[in-house]
Amino acid sequence: MAEPESIALTVDEIVVRVSPGTTVAAAALIAGSHTRLSIAGEPRAPLCGMGICFECRVAINGVPHQRSCQILCAPGMRVTTGRELAIR
Ligand code: FES
Repeated sequence: MAEPESIALTVDEIVVRVSPGTTVAAAALIAGSHTRLSIAGEPRAPLCGMGICFECRVAINGVPHQRSCQILCAPGMRVTTGRELAIR
């Protein structure tokens, strides 16, 4: 049986390869990134994993506030989290 092909996308300019069916939230975590920033600039991460909490929001292909736990990765997808703005 052949292995499924991987999907390549970028998360904050980092190339990530994932299996088909992987959520964008998982890809962001694989890239070592948080998802959104709090209003105070603190990094946030997926909490519920089912579309309710909105903690997993990212920009996908320039469209902001996408719930990354509800969207599957697609080839060439560009995900941005605002990581460079985070307070560490
Ligand atoms: S993790 Fe809660 S909406 Fe995505």
